[in-house]
Amino acid sequence: MKHYTSIKDIDNINTWIEEAKALKTNPLKHITLGKDKTLGLLFFNSSLRTRLSTQKAALNLGMNPIVMNVSGDAWGLEFEDGTIMNGNTAEHIKEAAAVVSQYCDIIAVRAFPTLTDKVKDESEQVMNAFMEHASVPIVNMESATGHPLQGLTDALTISEHATKAKPKVVLSWAPHIKPLPHAVANSFTQAMQKMDVEFVITNPEGYDLSPEITRDTPIYHNQEEAFKDADFVYTKNWSSYEDYGKVVDTDPNWMITKEKLGNAKFMHCLPVRRNVVVEDTVLDSDSSIVIEQANNRTYAAQLVLKKLLENI
Ligand code: CP
Repeated sequence: MKHYTSIKDIDNINTWIEEAKALKTNPLKHITLGKDKTLGLLFFNSSLRTRLSTQKAALNLGMNPIVMNVSGDAWGLEFEDGTIMNGNTAEHIKEAAAVVSQYCDIIAVRAFPTLTDKVKDESEQVMNAFMEHASVPIVNMESATGHPLQGLTDALTISEHATKAKPKVVLSWAPHIKPLPHAVANSFTQAMQKMDVEFVITNPEGYDLSPEITRDTPIYHNQEEAFKDADFVYTKNWSSYEDYGKVVDTDPNWMITKEKLGNAKFMHCLPVRRNVVVEDTVLDSDSSIVIEQANNRTYAAQLVLKKLLENI
């Protein structure tokens, strides 16, 4: 594996899950693997979990992590080819990615979508530019269309908490006050499609994810019907894909309640808005596994970094 930018980079998810569980049992087993190696973490957007867990993963492998808030602290970056750079951008990605490659053995990048330009977002301009112009492996820490470190984490968490061979997993849209990206929902869907689970998606009309992502996964526009016999309810808001980036429905009845959840485990990538997306009684109950899920971010990232280091 040269880069980790998509769930598609996982060759065998069951093997990866077992490898992540082994790392979790003994996180410092490979402490010398990353000796004298540097991980650069470049953030175009805010983060709590990704920023800390990926650094923690690097430290567990003996790497030196260095972090930059690109949007606030670096020169404005230009991504278009052939541009006359007489505007707000002061440095081209061609030089920037090549220069960061001089300091880092692996580069991890977070760059959210515009949510206004579907074509640009689907082109994954930032992630692809780093892959093209850097000379070291690239890790996607959430891009325009995917969050594969989160998706791998979620697969690991479901495997740990499953009490039957083929659990039922529901991805449910929930209300939010702002339009949010599709990345988490996309990567979760792709991860579940690789696992031996009964997987369904539920969202209001107008919020179907890209058909290239959902493929033959059943989509219910009736949340109650989708939740029947669920073992895991993974909740996330996303904006409309069809009416790209728009909020077309804010129906509060889609919020997750204890009554709706039944005996299912509640999952969310976090951060989550209490009593908008999910009510307190769910998050504060034993049904919620969001903290265990966040803990697993370290071991998913550690597995990815380990695989990349072994290939350098
Ligand atoms: N789940 C997740 O990626 O969290 P952060 O945005 O805080 O990194």
